[in-house]
Amino acid sequence: MAFETVIFDAYGTLFNVEAAARNAVDSPGGGALAETWQAVAGDWRRKQLEYSWLRAVSGDYTSFWQLTQDGLDWALANAGLADPELRETLLGLYWELEAYPEVPVMLETLADMGRPAAILSNGSPEMLRAACESAGISHLLADSLSVDAVGTFKPARAVYDMVGERFGTSPAEVLFVSSNGWDVAGAAAYGFTTVWVNRAGAPMDLLPGRPDHVLPDLSNLPEFA
Ligand code: LAC
Repeated sequence: MAFETVIFDAYGTLFNVEAAARNAVDSPGGGALAETWQAVAGDWRRKQLEYSWLRAVSGDYTSFWQLTQDGLDWALANAGLADPELRETLLGLYWELEAYPEVPVMLETLADMGRPAAILSNGSPEMLRAACESAGISHLLADSLSVDAVGTFKPARAVYDMVGERFGTSPAEVLFVSSNGWDVAGAAAYGFTTVWVNRAGAPMDLLPGRPDHVLPDLSNLPEFA
């Protein structure tokens, strides 16, 4: 089936968020992360997401950039590394994220096939713009849709509604791709056809929606589009 549009989650799917903490080890003040960067990266991501879900439930919306800072502050405190210079280094790296290596060629293939590709992300518009530019993929995307326009976070249905509102598609005409199992579950329950990019080899999330396809990375994604 040829989909009208292919929608990608951003963080962890197109952009390698762990790389920020890993690359910080060699930056000013980063030596303290040599032993702990993986734990800090894991706590940072987990708290950023927890805060997004909690704020969606309670209706206390704030930008994903704020949640990114709050998550980092918790992670650094938990590691006993609450150092302002290290904090600035880590936050700065979040604006210069790398795409996973297979992403540019995969997006070029989709463009050659005539499938418009776009991002749908919790990320703030400025964060998404910076990440796309730093990864060199802006020209391969039809749009970057940010939840900021609806003032809540995934997996709220209002977020997935943004795709149809932007592209004039029904859910069945959309292929949705995410490395976040809970995001894929929400998108599948919404009615999108879904691909879970299970980079970490994690167990499937036990939520109502299940992915239609599971891939180890994005290399073969165009075959499903
Ligand atoms: C996003 C987060 C969930 O990009 O990865 O929406």
